[in-house]
Amino acid sequence: MESALYDSMLKDEAYAMIDVLPKDQWMAVSALFQKLEAKGTRVFYHSLRVGSLVGIIDRFLGIESDDLLAGGYLHDVGKVKIPLRILEKTGTWTNNDRTIMKRHVLTGYRMLKECGLADAADIMVFHHWFQIPRYPRRIPKPDYSHNLNRVRFCGRIVALADCYDALHRNNAWPEGIVLDSSQIRNKMFALNLDQSQLIGKLYNAGIFV
Ligand SMILES: [Fe+2]
Ligand SMILES: [Fe+2]
Repeated sequence: MESALYDSMLKDEAYAMIDVLPKDQWMAVSALFQKLEAKGTRVFYHSLRVGSLVGIIDRFLGIESDDLLAGGYLHDVGKVKIPLRILEKTGTWTNNDRTIMKRHVLTGYRMLKECGLADAADIMVFHHWFQIPRYPRRIPKPDYSHNLNRVRFCGRIVALADCYDALHRNNAWPEGIVLDSSQIRNKMFALNLDQSQLIGKLYNAGIFV
């Protein structure tokens, strides 16, 4: 599909998806979408693709969680505070670049908490937690009333969708290497050993292709 058309459909879909949120949360999410879009198309459309995929997995598993959906769409919102010279760097990253980039998780977590999207924050903070090396070093404790296993599993779904999009969009592991679909499939299993059953189901269902 033509990329510009696909992007505009993704954007329409994202706004339709968040339409189910209560008004105050809708306003918060839409303001954060605008910040992401202003930061650049790469981070914005990556966020929309991951959010869309999270929404599909959410429905496939029957979770139906608005917080998971918002956590998916806004998992990288902290990148709005990362300098563009790092965010859009195409050459080799230095250790210092990586250190600064890793801050996007806790920055985004705080932004979502401040916007009243506390539950989405508790989910998205896990999105780099299942990879090697994982970060952030310490995950802030979710609200005591939440089931930690459920929050972690929702975070795991966001991490899976993020990994899938990164492999397909050639922006990770490592930069510049183009993978075909069978290599991506192998990497999805190899990088997410704890979720091989779910990944198999998602491929069988045609959600991962
Ligand atoms: Fe991220
Ligand atoms: Fe991401």
